[in-house]
Amino acid sequence: MVKTPPFKELTEEQAKLVQTDWDYIKTQANEILYNFFEKFPGNQKQFKAFIGKDLDDIKDTPEFADHAEKIATLFGQVIENLAKDSTKIKELINDMGLRHKDRGISKFAFLEFREAFMDFLRFNVGGSLDGMQVCQSLYLQLQSMIKNVFYLGLD
Ligand code: HEM
Repeated sequence: MVKTPPFKELTEEQAKLVQTDWDYIKTQANEILYNFFEKFPGNQKQFKAFIGKDLDDIKDTPEFADHAEKIATLFGQVIENLAKDSTKIKELINDMGLRHKDRGISKFAFLEFREAFMDFLRFNVGGSLDGMQVCQSLYLQLQSMIKNVFYLGLD
């Protein structure tokens, strides 16, 4: 079985770049989720409360804010541990991936999420090119952990 490549811990400097970019958008959790559904509307049906509803009618509901907040909290926890504790990051991501897999969410939904999220970052963060590059390579690492959960199970 192919193992996930070990998580490459970020340097303090890289972690700071990611934190700076995240600080720009962390209060925009609802907008991040809105952008995801707007780009990839097929994912809305995974949420019972959102099936068949117009995105603009659900965007201000408590259910919408709830998942948006959950995503933001998990990203915050990952970012907090970037230059510190790669085992914790792996744990957080594996656990999240597994719980989504158990709900029947596909690995493609996560690819779509990545695309929507990286676009959001690009258009909403006034940060540096360096920051964007670090964020991109970090997300690829996280994505490969998620992919591993879907294809191969945990290692
Ligand atoms: C990196 C991206 C994502 C993060 C960090 C994230 C995080 C979370 C968290 C923390 C929860 C609640 C607890 C749990 O893990 O079960 C949750 C629930 C859920 N997530 Fe995600 N999620 C992400 C992407 C997605 C995607 C792409 C979908 C696809 C539609 C999705 C669909 C759901 C659903 C349906 C629930 C259950 C909601 C409920 O029952 O109220 N998530 N997510």
